[in-house]
Amino acid sequence: MLLPQDIIRTKRDGGELDAEAIHTWIRGVVDGSIADYQSAALLMAIYLRGMTAAETAHLTEAMMHSGEVISLPEITAPRVDKHSTGGVGDKVSLILAPLAAAAGLCVPMISGRGLGHTGGTLDKLEAIPGFRVALDTSAYRRALQRTGVALAGQTERFVPADRILYALRDITATVECIPLICASIMSKKLAEGIDALVLDVKFGRGAFMKTLDDARRLAEGMVAIGRAMRRPTWALLTAMDRPLGRAVGHSLEVIEAIESLKGRGPDDLMEVTLALTARMLVLGGLAPDPESAAVRLREVLASGAALEKFRAIIAEQGGDPGVIDDYDRLPRARRIVEIPSTESGYVVDIDAMRIARAGICLGAARRRVEDAIDHAVGVAAIRQVGEAVDVGEPLCCLHVNDEAGLEEAVALARSAFSLGERPPDQPPMILGEIS
Ligand code: URA
Repeated sequence: MLLPQDIIRTKRDGGELDAEAIHTWIRGVVDGSIADYQSAALLMAIYLRGMTAAETAHLTEAMMHSGEVISLPEITAPRVDKHSTGGVGDKVSLILAPLAAAAGLCVPMISGRGLGHTGGTLDKLEAIPGFRVALDTSAYRRALQRTGVALAGQTERFVPADRILYALRDITATVECIPLICASIMSKKLAEGIDALVLDVKFGRGAFMKTLDDARRLAEGMVAIGRAMRRPTWALLTAMDRPLGRAVGHSLEVIEAIESLKGRGPDDLMEVTLALTARMLVLGGLAPDPESAAVRLREVLASGAALEKFRAIIAEQGGDPGVIDDYDRLPRARRIVEIPSTESGYVVDIDAMRIARAGICLGAARRRVEDAIDHAVGVAAIRQVGEAVDVGEPLCCLHVNDEAGLEEAVALARSAFSLGERPPDQPPMILGEIS
């Protein structure tokens, strides 16, 4: 019999764990026969020693099978999802899911809540009055059959090993470990019933991965797992130094997503969204290459079909579809505070982290898991890099309910912008891909 201390010792001493050791550990994590302190010791050994590609694949598979693995044989359309490693103003999923479904894909999307300074898709969706993200398996299947999209949160039965291990990682300083992140993300994606996956691996000031090299290593790890599990996986490495789009905050991002579905999305947001959705179409066999997929997606957007799909998704999940035509049906802040520019010039840089922290000061994110979030507040009308601003013109607007954090939010928002005499070269949004 394999004892937990044998598994820990092997990893501690730099050895490679085989499939049996990893499956034994994960079984023990879920049935409680392995204590949290033993898992914590093993997680730290993994953090320090790393994992081979084979170990990471075994861990992913064991975690994926630690609970319910959804299969969707009744769905005939190609089932393709997208996952983002998280950023500031990242509302891509709200545009991409209806767009991909309107183009013929099925999008089973199990998402998370905000983590650290990044917003979560579930929290954004919950800004829509009535929108239910707690779908049991039959509601999840029904949504997929009726609209081609399910936007859901994790249930108790879904990858329980990740829930337990993530909580332990959080309190033992073992979150920032590429093989553990790969297994955590991929186990959840592979359990949701997909044929293929597109990954948006973000890097820069506003992302968890600060450098392109780290983002590439994370992307390569996840693509390798997808390949090992026979789910074609395609990763884009995208810039996250600046906020994506012009809005950060839940209602504000829902509005920007709807505006984008109406054909009025900001360039950077649309570039990333179309690039990711195009690769979903290629993996789903609906287009031969990303270029022709993007042409098709622009037609779908212009036809209004993606907007109507979003309306149907909202209605299917219990939300108020009237928000599409009347933004005042979303939670709105009591007051809007403009941040005027103190100089004239061109916006040359916007620090995503400062904008995110301004939003946190206003109540747009949780400080602790049990905290409520204010869906109405955040930062909007964010000037884009390259835009000219005169003295006194707003750089952005704060949407405020509670005055307590306002002073700090104003200082953060103001200091997020750097102005110069000339418009800068537009830095590329997509800096690499791994397929
Ligand atoms: N997101 C996840 O789901 N898991 C991680 O480990 C990190 C980010």
